Amino acid sequence: MTNPTIADLVISGATVVTDAASFDAAVAIKDGRILAIGEERALPSARETFDATGLHLLPGAIDVHVHFREPGYTHKEDWQTGTAAAAMGGVTTVFEMPNVDPPTATPEGLALKQEAAKKAHVDYGLYGLLAEDNIDQLEALIEGGVAGFKCFMGNTFGNLPSPSTGAMLEGFEIVAQHGLRIALHAETASIMARREKRLQAAGRTDPLAHLASRPAVVAVEAVSRAAILAEWTGARIHILHISSADELRPLREAKLRGVDITGETCPHYLLFDEQAYADHRSVIRVNPPVRERHHQDGLWQGLYDGTIDMIATDHAPHTPAEKLRNDIWTVDCGFPGVETQMPLMLSQVHAGRLSLSDYVRLTSTKPAKAFGLYPAKGALLPGSDADITLVDLNREDTIAAAHFQSRSKITPFEGMKVTGMPIHTLVRGRFIMKDRQIVGESKGWGRSVHRIQRMPPPQPKNSDQTLAAVTRVSGRSR
Ligand code: DOR
Ligand code: ZN
Repeated sequence: MTNPTIADLVISGATVVTDAASFDAAVAIKDGRILAIGEERALPSARETFDATGLHLLPGAIDVHVHFREPGYTHKEDWQTGTAAAAMGGVTTVFEMPNVDPPTATPEGLALKQEAAKKAHVDYGLYGLLAEDNIDQLEALIEGGVAGFKCFMGNTFGNLPSPSTGAMLEGFEIVAQHGLRIALHAETASIMARREKRLQAAGRTDPLAHLASRPAVVAVEAVSRAAILAEWTGARIHILHISSADELRPLREAKLRGVDITGETCPHYLLFDEQAYADHRSVIRVNPPVRERHHQDGLWQGLYDGTIDMIATDHAPHTPAEKLRNDIWTVDCGFPGVETQMPLMLSQVHAGRLSLSDYVRLTSTKPAKAFGLYPAKGALLPGSDADITLVDLNREDTIAAAHFQSRSKITPFEGMKVTGMPIHTLVRGRFIMKDRQIVGESKGWGRSVHRIQRMPPPQPKNSDQTLAAVTRVSGRSR
């Protein structure tokens, strides 16, 4: 008889939560993966046990939208502080954005990002940039190990020019052949540029002028256009930071037409409305903007009916000096979020606005499925990576930026009372955060997820009309 399997770790006493159900069970882990889930006495023996009585055991959150600023803007954040913030927030995988300096637009830019990411505490995917002038670099970026692409249809921090519709179409055609998802900052630059100029000419410098410069049609037009290009090319796309109720219609319609399109919203759009401009002044400046109350209600509806697939954070760290300026046009956009998402949204679970399984679906299962990581991630199944967050649903706290792991010590959520906190975070079986402390040696534990990613190419509808097909020079005579 061979030796019985011995687990590395058994976590007992917790209530296990999946996207479908909650049940009391112990979890056995071996070699970084889940070995078995069940009654403790039925599990293999373990070298180590961990008593999690009173806690809930969730698949770690996957935040597909963070900015960690390295290389180039490390006074705002770097990969050490950013991924420590993630672990403190119960987040076990992040997808990180390419608007760094130099941008992640070429294999050389990607190599610099990969070097910086060697410090990561948690697992990560890297987005490559899809822009006007790097369409010829996209395949090399895929070869180099990006986990998806980011396309800025509207300008934001880093001032990367938005690509023309023509460049987007060519980029979509290329990426479609490889199956990777293209994430879109869906705001149309030309509308915003004109509005902003007129508001500035009229002397507006107040926080609400930012909202006035980016009406919802800015996003609606961009979502619709991106969906048409995705439908034509077969590219998979993801709509980042959905801020308005109006975007849900083009999103829903595209889904009905069979476009492989997913969408995210962020806690700030679910929890703030236009009152935030009076309450938080320049700190609330973010792209796209926090909007009027009826949008918030619509976004919650979109979460309930499945139009919105997931919650991400757009973790966008800046310094207090960069956020606290009088002229709104000079204020950097965004604020940190990867560390506060879980307390904020678990508080919504506590308030009865979301079930715990809905929360798991929106923050873990769906992001894993959309980016080809399921069931290695986003699931608690035998064989899944042991990416686990143990949360205390009754732990109360007050959001305080001074205590953030993030280098960015400023947030519009400052002072907000929360109920529900991540207490321990494990990535592939290893404690990264324990008792609300980062485990120092975990620096460098994080790995790129591109190797486990499975994104088979979809069938493009118009493959005979792609640029490659119509410009192919045939060597054969007729
Ligand atoms: O407000 C924002 N800030 N929105 C974005 O899309 C980018 C981000 C940043 O990088 O600061
Ligand atoms: Zn962003």
